[in-house]
Amino acid sequence: MLSIHENMIVDFSPSLLDKFGEVVARYPAGRQKSALLPILHLVQAEYGWLSVDAMDKVALYLEIKSIEVYEVATFYTMFFLEPKGKYVLEICRTGPCCLVGAERMMKHLESTLGVREGEVTSDGLFSWRGVECVAACGFGPVLQIGPEYTFYEKLTEEGLDQLIDELKHKSQTA
Ligand code: FES
Repeated sequence: MLSIHENMIVDFSPSLLDKFGEVVARYPAGRQKSALLPILHLVQAEYGWLSVDAMDKVALYLEIKSIEVYEVATFYTMFFLEPKGKYVLEICRTGPCCLVGAERMMKHLESTLGVREGEVTSDGLFSWRGVECVAACGFGPVLQIGPEYTFYEKLTEEGLDQLIDELKHKSQTA
């Protein structure tokens, strides 16, 4: 759902606008709307999520209506419409993964990270959420992390702890 409470005013940098231009150039003249999905990915990579202001400015850039951007951004679950942690840990919560412990993994994330589903840890590093089947049903419980969608299969509480530690370390050395 679009949030009217949270907004982030953005000012697209020249380098980001250059990237937009490269994407738009892939499509025939007058078909710049076709660049909407890749441009939304670029915006999310830059800011971590898509604010209403960011979507409105994408609409202006592509010379389309804001509603056309909202329609796409709200349809695809990989787009975040509110601030998220640097790492969004997504646990498959569909039946087969639940049978082998997905709910236990989500509870473990909630207690280990100290945030409920969709919230952001105070250090800004983590969010987590349950998602529908990610097509690795034989290897549950399964977790994925975007935007590359790295998979972690046959999760355990210990494995989750280790992954969280590794990501914390990675963020310190990045
Ligand atoms: Fe979890 Fe399919 S049910 S990956």
